[in-house]
Amino acid sequence: MTAKPIKHYLQFNDFSLEEYDYVLERARILKRKFKNYETYHPLHDRTLAMIFEKSSTRTRLSFEAGIHQLGGHAVFLNTRDTQLGRGEPIEDAAQVISRMTDIIMIRTFGQEILERFSQHSRVPVINGLTNEYHPCQVLADIFTYYEQRGPIKGKTVTWIGDANNMSYTWIQAAEIFGFTFHISTPPGYRLDQKLVAESSRPFVREFEDPRAACAGADLVSTDVWTSMGYEAENEVRKAAFAQWCVNADLMGQAKPDALFMHCLPAHRGEEVSAEVIDGPQSVVWDEAENRLHVQKALMEYLLLGRLTA
Ligand code: CP
Ligand code: NVA
Repeated sequence: MTAKPIKHYLQFNDFSLEEYDYVLERARILKRKFKNYETYHPLHDRTLAMIFEKSSTRTRLSFEAGIHQLGGHAVFLNTRDTQLGRGEPIEDAAQVISRMTDIIMIRTFGQEILERFSQHSRVPVINGLTNEYHPCQVLADIFTYYEQRGPIKGKTVTWIGDANNMSYTWIQAAEIFGFTFHISTPPGYRLDQKLVAESSRPFVREFEDPRAACAGADLVSTDVWTSMGYEAENEVRKAAFAQWCVNADLMGQAKPDALFMHCLPAHRGEEVSAEVIDGPQSVVWDEAENRLHVQKALMEYLLLGRLTA
């Protein structure tokens, strides 16, 4: 008998639209159970290993609370306190950690580290953020869009600021869900075309002017000017990105009912003004909470497959 292949979640395009339809529906069901204080332990006695090579608040909390609510528990490992920080090969770590646990989430630097880890893992591996992608966040963002406005197909999502892990993930999502992705970045910080698949290009429009990028948008989103791992560039970036701040003027270019999203943590007065992030179009707290619900659905799907009840 051949073993069932392990399903990982390393990039947004690891799932098809049909799989997303299923996972988003499960997230809705699991959110309702959570709000009703309904005990639901399909992952009783399962262990999630969470490996962090970068800082986190939301990702750690949502995965740890999520596996607990599903009946399992989490083990937190970081680079500083484990042998990973002392040069143990990632392949060896994957062999060992995946023999003792049922599912693994990693936040690390290059995507190739995650790929190598997953190739040596006996259990599903989830991308908790790499330099290139942040699929769990975009999954939560799309779930949030559905909750607020319905299907995202045919809509326009505008990204202002850095062409970073979030933007490359949104581009994969645009192709899968069928929406248009506008992006405006400062000169010198444009999209790396190596990270944009040929098949995704028809869904992407690049703009020099951030106001033009926002015109007619259904959703405007941004993120920090300096992502984790790029801290040495902080001062140079602050000067280069000064005009790429989502303020009331930029939001005013979007549709009147456009939403504002930010994966957080945010820097008010840099990539977003306080009046926008704390204003009526902002859904950032729902976005953060929804990490919990979509990741529970994700872990349930990776470990148990499709459920009928
Ligand atoms: N949005 C997000 O991933 O937040 P953390 O860095 O706090 O996990
Ligand atoms: N782009 C940011 C996201 C943080 C959640 C980073 O990688 O630091």
